[in-house]
Amino acid sequence: MYQTHHSGPIGVFDSGVGGLTVARAIHAKMPQEDIIYFGDTLHLPYGEKSSDAIKRYSLAITKFLMEQNAKTIVVACNSASANAYQTLVETFPNVEIINVIDPVTKYCELKGFSSIGVIGTKATIGSATYQRILSANLNQPKVIAKATPLLASMIEEGFINGPVAQSVLNAYLQNEPVGQTEAFILGCTHYPLLEDEIKPLLHPNNHIVNTPKIVAEWIHASLQQKELLAKNESRTGKTRFYLSDLTQSFVKQAELFFGEKLDINEVRLPD
Ligand code: DGL
Repeated sequence: MYQTHHSGPIGVFDSGVGGLTVARAIHAKMPQEDIIYFGDTLHLPYGEKSSDAIKRYSLAITKFLMEQNAKTIVVACNSASANAYQTLVETFPNVEIINVIDPVTKYCELKGFSSIGVIGTKATIGSATYQRILSANLNQPKVIAKATPLLASMIEEGFINGPVAQSVLNAYLQNEPVGQTEAFILGCTHYPLLEDEIKPLLHPNNHIVNTPKIVAEWIHASLQQKELLAKNESRTGKTRFYLSDLTQSFVKQAELFFGEKLDINEVRLPD
């Protein structure tokens, strides 16, 4: 049976480098923890893939992270959280698997928001996972979801501040019902990088939910509850980065998302 140990790393995976927004928040919250990050750059974008393909990729990555003795697996990708989480939990019952949707929807429930907008990839919004969980757990919330598929590739190309980002965001969000809500979920790893430009397009009282921070707090609580936090609080954890396809442009993007220089290795997983 798979044995987890407090000295093991936290395993984090995403379709690419966007999940580094979550890895960064984990590192800020728990600097003593080792992290092992896997970005499936060979297969991205997950947002355009079928649910079956996303499941297949996620199963192989989870297996790889377990082989690296991960004490918990964080599905940092919203498209994988929405489409593959259930399959992962059923396939690997002996390891704690955390997705990015449960912490955020729970947060909305605790805050008692009555209307919530959510944006994400086609795979995330098309799965209706956010809509289903929010509607089941909140008291008659108004949930408005919208797929915004151009945003992830736009960010990867570095269009973050400036006229290109502005006009794409205007087309998706200006005067649109999704933003005229009480809370707003950035349901994709990449979108926190656009938060400052998204905010003025929403209702002035709209509260943008900070997914990476909320997920990091959830992981901390889960590890604490299972007595799996690293014992030595004064140590600084190491982070290992793996991509399934390593190119200079991915390295550049990874540094944009993580906020510092990284040493990245390539690893090919069996199909
Ligand atoms: N990481 C994906 C997500 O959060 C966005 C990029 C992709 O489509 O692969 O949904």
